[in-house]
Amino acid sequence: MDTTNSSRRTFLKTSALAGLSASLAATGGCAATKPSGSAPTKSRLAPPRPLGQKPVHDLTTKPLEKVRVAVIGLGRGMTHVQDSLNIEFAEVIAVCDKRDNRATNAANACEKKTGKRPAVYSGNETIWEQMVEREDIDVVYIATPWEWHVPMCLRAMERGKHAFVEVSAAVTLDECWQLVNTSERTQRHCVMLENCCYGENELFVLNMARQGVFGELTHAECAYLHELRGVLFSLGSEGDWRREYHKTHDGNLYPTHGLGPVAQYLGVGRGDQFKFLVSMSSPEKSLTKVLNEKKPNGGRHAGEKYTCGDMNTSIIKTELGRTIMIQHDVVTPRPYSRINGLNGTDASFFDYPARLAIAAPKQYGLSAGNSHEWLNENDMAVMREKFTHPLWKKLQDRSKGQGHGGMDFVMNWRHLDCIRQGVTPDSVVYDAAGWSSILELSTRSVANGSAPVVIPDFTRGLWKTMKPLGIA
Ligand SMILES: NC(=O)c1ccc[n+]([C@@H]2O[C@H](COP(=O)([O-])OP(=O)(O)OC[C@H]3O[C@@H](n4cnc5c(N)ncnc54)[C@H](O)[C@@H]3O)[C@@H](O)[C@H]2O)c1
Repeated sequence: MDTTNSSRRTFLKTSALAGLSASLAATGGCAATKPSGSAPTKSRLAPPRPLGQKPVHDLTTKPLEKVRVAVIGLGRGMTHVQDSLNIEFAEVIAVCDKRDNRATNAANACEKKTGKRPAVYSGNETIWEQMVEREDIDVVYIATPWEWHVPMCLRAMERGKHAFVEVSAAVTLDECWQLVNTSERTQRHCVMLENCCYGENELFVLNMARQGVFGELTHAECAYLHELRGVLFSLGSEGDWRREYHKTHDGNLYPTHGLGPVAQYLGVGRGDQFKFLVSMSSPEKSLTKVLNEKKPNGGRHAGEKYTCGDMNTSIIKTELGRTIMIQHDVVTPRPYSRINGLNGTDASFFDYPARLAIAAPKQYGLSAGNSHEWLNENDMAVMREKFTHPLWKKLQDRSKGQGHGGMDFVMNWRHLDCIRQGVTPDSVVYDAAGWSSILELSTRSVANGSAPVVIPDFTRGLWKTMKPLGIA
């Protein structure tokens, strides 16, 4: 355990530094060294597309009768196994975890449900390489710790599979570009499993945004505010690896749950694009307090030093001039929230709890007199009746009781259905890279006195002609 942890720590430090230098090279070093307060003048940063690569924003593939899946990492990955077992056009071909018991349990669950036992790959950290060599797999789900996401995605795509990767897809900017380049070169999808894009409220807001309820969109707010102090010190699960990032990075360590949905509302990567961000962190206090006062796991973590501020706040400016506030805090005692807020000229929505204010309520037959108050329960019910997303309506019964209020199932059904039909999934590698890039970019801004940092355009200009995500 100690050897593994220390090799991981070395890996994290090396990869953080390697990523930083690679991204500085990609930007000519200009973004991080700009004086604090001056907005970057270079609007886009994207190395030219290497020869032999083609864009994947509209990539279509051969339709399939059954989508044959394999899953690596069977903690969170068990959700993807279970969902696949419940989707009539999916089949679990193989399961993989370095831990034998997790792989065996997953195979048992498959056999119990379908009578067919998937192939099992377990026992060491590289056994997944054998699994992705198989010819009978269409999609490889990757639900391992973050350091494994990119090597596993790259190998899966190189071997002709679509990669479905957990959040965040990548830790460094350099890794984000590796995902983009490999997806374009292999013409395989790299889809980030951002389940929060498929929550009932997120789909409701997306539908309203597309149907013009908000008028012109101007600003969004989002976050990952989730008290994980217990999880961060857990043994045998996320605590084994996730706390390490609190020692090596000071920024937004987990941006995509909040950012994915609001990026889709605003059409980021499709008609608009992230331009630059500024970021600042509060002091680090809470993890150190737990460490010193609770001495978790019998005091075995004594002496650990954390650098990640308890609360990180970043503000992103987009090419169309819109703004996004995004926060990260996994250590402060508080109820869960992703904020999930959207403002436009005609309406505002904020979540936790869901609230909507509308400039012209009469237009929708509502009882509200004006927009100075949130809609009451009855008016909200009217809006839900009108604007609940068709995908949610279609799948809500089947998704009841499934992971994260049903959104995991809706996400898995939708992504696998796109692969079955051969159509482009709702989010492609440019979204995975753009949303994940905030991790490194926020740390760079924090490290430079909150200086503006240019956000690379992973679409290399395609965003200008792409249309915002439609109603699925
Ligand atoms: N979308 C969500 O709501 C959500 C929720 C939880 C976790 N996650 C993400 O899922 C991923 C996994 O998180 P988790 O909570 O399951 O962590 P975990 O530590 O509980 O599980 C990770 C699993 O991967 C296995 N593993 C590690 N390295 C491996 C390797 N080289 N080969 C094969 N197996 C390997 C481990 O044995 C373990 O079973 C992370 O990226 C996390 O951010 C997403």
